[in-house]
Amino acid sequence: MLGLLVRAVLRSGLVKPYHLVKPVSVTILPERSSHHQDNLPKLPVPPLRQTFERYLLMLEPLLSEEELDHTRKLVKEFLIPGGVGDRLQRSLERRASNKGNWVGTYCKYNKSLEGYRQLKICVDCETLPIEYLGGKPLCMDQYYQILSSCRIPGPKRDTVVNHAVGKVAPTHITVVHNFQFFILDMYNSDGSPLTVDQIYMQLEKVWNSSLQSNKEPIGILTSQHRNTWGKAYNNLIKDKTNKESVRAIQKSIFTVCLDAPMPQMSEQRYQSRVAAQMLHGGGSRWNSGNRWFDKTLQFIVGEDGTCGLVYEHAPAEGPPIVFLVDHVVEYMMEVVRTPMTPLPMPPKLRFNITPEVKKDIESAKQNMNIMSHDLDVNVVFFSDYGRNVPRAHKLSPDAFIQMALQLAYFRMYKMCCSTYESASLRMFALGRTDTIRSCSNESLKFVQAMEHPAKPNAEKVFLLDKACQAHREYTHMAIHGQAIDRHLLGLKLQAIEELTSMPEIFMDTAYAVAEHPNLSTSQAGAKTDCVMCFGPMVPDGYGVCYNPMADHINIAITAFNSCEETHAANFGRGVKKALRDMRSLLEETANAKQ
Ligand SMILES: *[C@@H]1O[C@H](CO)[C@@H](O)[C@H](O)[C@H]1NC(C)=O
Ligand SMILES: *[C@@H]1O[C@H](CO)[C@@H](O)[C@H](O)[C@H]1NC(C)=O
Ligand SMILES: *[C@@H]1O[C@H](CO)[C@@H](O)[C@H](O)[C@H]1NC(C)=O
Repeated sequence: MLGLLVRAVLRSGLVKPYHLVKPVSVTILPERSSHHQDNLPKLPVPPLRQTFERYLLMLEPLLSEEELDHTRKLVKEFLIPGGVGDRLQRSLERRASNKGNWVGTYCKYNKSLEGYRQLKICVDCETLPIEYLGGKPLCMDQYYQILSSCRIPGPKRDTVVNHAVGKVAPTHITVVHNFQFFILDMYNSDGSPLTVDQIYMQLEKVWNSSLQSNKEPIGILTSQHRNTWGKAYNNLIKDKTNKESVRAIQKSIFTVCLDAPMPQMSEQRYQSRVAAQMLHGGGSRWNSGNRWFDKTLQFIVGEDGTCGLVYEHAPAEGPPIVFLVDHVVEYMMEVVRTPMTPLPMPPKLRFNITPEVKKDIESAKQNMNIMSHDLDVNVVFFSDYGRNVPRAHKLSPDAFIQMALQLAYFRMYKMCCSTYESASLRMFALGRTDTIRSCSNESLKFVQAMEHPAKPNAEKVFLLDKACQAHREYTHMAIHGQAIDRHLLGLKLQAIEELTSMPEIFMDTAYAVAEHPNLSTSQAGAKTDCVMCFGPMVPDGYGVCYNPMADHINIAITAFNSCEETHAANFGRGVKKALRDMRSLLEETANAKQ
C-alpha cells in the first residue's frame, strides 16, 4: 500500500524522484499464527554475581583506582549471602517466571501483553518472513506494533494503543499538508486496495484543497514535553469535533506528511538538514507542525523529493523500521498500471481552536523552536570504504566502527567515556534491547596506543584485534540476554518497589558515570542507502547512528548546541580521521609482513 502511495506522490510531480524511499504494500489480514512466538525462549535473569563482576570490569576504564575501590566495597556489601542483593534477585526471578518478559513488565509504555499475539499485518500479502540471527529465530512482535498504533499522553504515564488488534482494523491513513489533516481510505467499497492512479488522484485532491498554510499548526502540540502535552491534550479533546479528529489520526495505519519547502542549503549541509527535517521538521516556521509526533510511523516527503520517515520509539526498535524501509524500496521498482474508479474527496479533519488550545499551540511552537535550534545534526557520508575493509582483515565491521568512535572521542577529550550501543534481545519472546558497553579496558588500551607515536604498528594492530574481540564477546553476551544494564535497572526498580531505602550501589558516583553515556550509539544496518538519526541521551553527549554499507558508511551524529564541549561536525571529522587512520594502520602492517 505504502509503495503505491509513495509512487503516486512521486509520479504526481509534487516531488522530483530524486532521493527515494520506496513503498511497501501493507495489507491487514485477519489472523496470524502465533506458533513461532510461543516457541521463543523467555528472557533470562542473569546470575547476580556475574552481573556485578561484569559491572566492575565495565567501570575499570572509566574510574580512578580510588573510586573503583569504593565501588568494589559497595558491591561486596550488596552481594553478602542472604542480603539485599539476593532478596532483589529472588523477586526478579519470581517476576520472570510469572511474566512473558520481566523487562517488559517494568516498561513504562507497556500495554497488555496478551493482545498482540493475534496480530495480523502482512507485508505484501505474504506472512512476514521470520528473521534469524546466528541460526536462531527472532521475535517478530515489534513488526506487529508499528502499524495503526499511536502513543497517547496520559496524566501519569503514556500508553501505546494499537488499533490493529481490535475487531475492525482501520483501513485509512492520514495525510497532512500545510498543517491540515485528511483521511485517506486505502480501500475501495468492494474491499480491494486503491490503485496507484487512485491514490495519486486522492493525494492531488488533498494537495489542491490545502494550498494555503494559514491554519493553526495543531500537530505541533505533539512535540511538547509529555506532561505539558498531556494537559494540552485534555484541553484539546474537551471539544467533541477535536476528539473525533484526534481519534482518526491515532487509529490511522500511518501518517504521510507532505512537507512545505525547507530553507536552501549548501550541498555539503544538505544531508544534515534533511536528517533534521526528518527528525523534528525544522521548527515551527517550517514543518514541525506538519506532523503528529505521537504516531508510531510517519512517512515524510519533501518538495524537493527527499523521502524519509520518523517513528515513535515506544513500540519498536530500529531494526523492524529499517526492514520496512528496505521492503518499501524494493517494491518501488515495480510499476503496475491499473484502471480508475472515481472516488469521493478525502475528508478533512476539523479542529476548533479555542483560546486555550491556541495558547497551548503558541507555547509548543516556542518550545519546538528552542529544541530544533539546540539540536546539532551532522550527517557524514564516509565514502573511503565500508564493511569490506574490516572484513578483509577479519574484524567485525560493527566492532571496528565502535573502535573508531572510541578513538575519535579519546582524541577530542583525552579520555574515554561511558558508551551505550543498543543490542537486540529479539531472540527472546517480546525482547527489546540491552546495552553493549563498547568502552572497555581493551578499547582504552588501543586508543592510548594510537596516540603514542613510539608504539610499533604491530602492537597497535594487536590491540585493535583484542579490542574488537572484547566487543564481539560483549555483543554475544548481550544478545543472549547476559548483559548487565537491564539487570541492574531491574534490580533498582525492584528496590524502589520493595525496600524503604535505595541500596548504596545505586547512589554511587560510579553508577552515575555508568548511567551517563556521553556516546549513545546504534548500528542500523539497512540494504537501502539511508541513515537513521536520533538525539544524544545526555545533555553533554553525542548520539551516533550508522549504516555500514558494502563500500561506504553513512553516519548521523547529533549533539546539543547548548553544550559548549560538544560539536557534531568536529566529532564527525574526528570519526572520519579515525576510520582513515585505522585502515592505514591495517594496510601498512599487512604490507610490512609480506
Ligand atoms: C488540482 O489542481 C490542478 C490545477 O488547478 C488541476 O489541474 C487538477 O485537475 C486538480 N486535481 C484534482 C484531482 O482535482
Ligand atoms: C584494566 O586496566 C587497568 C589499568 O591498566 C588494570 O589495572 C586492570 O588490571 C585491567 N583489568 C583487566 C581485567 O584486565
Ligand atoms: C561526559 O560525561 C561526564 C560525566 O560522566 C562529564 O563529566 C564529561 O564532561 C562528559 N564529557 C563531555 C565531552 O562533555
